[in-house]
Amino acid sequence: MRVTVFGTGYVGLVTGTCLAEVGHNVVCVDVDAEKIAGLEAGRIPIYEPGLEPMVLANHAAGRLQFSTDAAASIGHGEILFIAVGTPPDEDGSADLQYVLQVARTIGRHLERPAIVVNKSTVPVGTADKVRAAIDEELAARGAGIAVDVVSNPEFLKEGAAVNDCMRPDRIVIGSRSPHAVERMKRLYAPFNRNHERVVVMDERSAELTKYAANAMLATKISFMNEMANIAERVGADIEMVRHGIGSDPRIGYHFIYPGAGYGGSCFPKDVQALERIARQNDYQARILAAVESVNDAQKGKLFEMASRHFGGQLAGRTFAVWGLSFKPNTDDMREAPSRVLLQQLWAAGAKVRAHDPEAMAEARRIFGERDDLVLCDSPDAALEGADALVLVTEWKAFASPDFPRLAATLRERVVIDGRNFYDPASVEESGLAYYGIGRGRSLAAR
Ligand code: UDX
Repeated sequence: MRVTVFGTGYVGLVTGTCLAEVGHNVVCVDVDAEKIAGLEAGRIPIYEPGLEPMVLANHAAGRLQFSTDAAASIGHGEILFIAVGTPPDEDGSADLQYVLQVARTIGRHLERPAIVVNKSTVPVGTADKVRAAIDEELAARGAGIAVDVVSNPEFLKEGAAVNDCMRPDRIVIGSRSPHAVERMKRLYAPFNRNHERVVVMDERSAELTKYAANAMLATKISFMNEMANIAERVGADIEMVRHGIGSDPRIGYHFIYPGAGYGGSCFPKDVQALERIARQNDYQARILAAVESVNDAQKGKLFEMASRHFGGQLAGRTFAVWGLSFKPNTDDMREAPSRVLLQQLWAAGAKVRAHDPEAMAEARRIFGERDDLVLCDSPDAALEGADALVLVTEWKAFASPDFPRLAATLRERVVIDGRNFYDPASVEESGLAYYGIGRGRSLAAR
């Protein structure tokens, strides 16, 4: 099938590439000419495992093209995806201006019936707004063209996006048009082998499904972080508790890892946006508010531990920081707990030596040149002259450090483990002080 995808960000590029991979003929459109020129030349604007070879192969095979020409691209697709950004505006609600701009562009240039699919995460009711924006443009030029608007949220995890897209758990199709549902099912047929993954529902339910999924996952994390904070105070180890509760299939082992708070482009934004949607509809979402406030506090946890260890005297101290991205296998630092930690350390007069396997360029872009930050080429280089090590992101490269060497290198022999990545006993055996998240009074209060 012929498909056009508006937006070559995370969602658009991964979706377009995976659709091309299964044989569809895809054009990805973006207003950013530099990005499109880069993609044409084989430069992938994001780091996502497995994406680059797939883009290159499908581009070479002619199934994946890139363009800045919206009008021509609208002519290409029978199905037109909207996958542009919906950044939060000042009050936390999703900013729809880019989505609606694309809708209007489609309305201005469409020459034959089409299915417009919303993939961006958008407030409930956006499908209606998209339909209205397209209809308005069509009416303005007297064009009576039939357009179906479908809500088809994405559930991609950064770092695993290609796999999530190629092997989805579910494919949510929000539409009340039998024709649109039939075409969407055909589009996704290659991803829907062996058992039925397509869930058909109305547009609003599909829009809410996306928020509900992310809010539920964020809730699990904040809940566990709260348990960790309790565990720490009562002398329990949250890692034991995690095993203890995860074995109950109703709870499950997934997404109950305590840590330094969730970050990324989705959870913080979507929890806020859903809270806002609820408020606009005369409902105060108390659980969502709590999820957000627990997470905000949790992002200050690593600093708190550092400050407690050093009796509040952090000025002149140097901290090695391992991991800057909000999670492993991505260079994305949006809402990353590392950013809160660094700002707090700097505000207290401390210096940072940081290393991340992929996010160094992003860190340079975000922080610029500053005296209190050294971006180091390797994990070892970050340790040189540091008093303590803070593990913020659980990259594989940080999984098994040589602890005796750490003990010999770190001036104050302190390891703060923001992901409960290390075995406290192995760390302590080497003569290092160990602090984890929610791992018992003896560990927390030295
Ligand atoms: C998320 C959803 O998983 C995905 O389905 C949706 O489409 C977009 O948002 P993503 O933001 O890429 O994906 O990352 P994810 O792997 O879900 O992690 C989000 C954050 O939660 C990270 O900061 C991670 O470190 C944190 N996390 C996750 C925990 O702190 N504990 C956990 O148990 C799991």
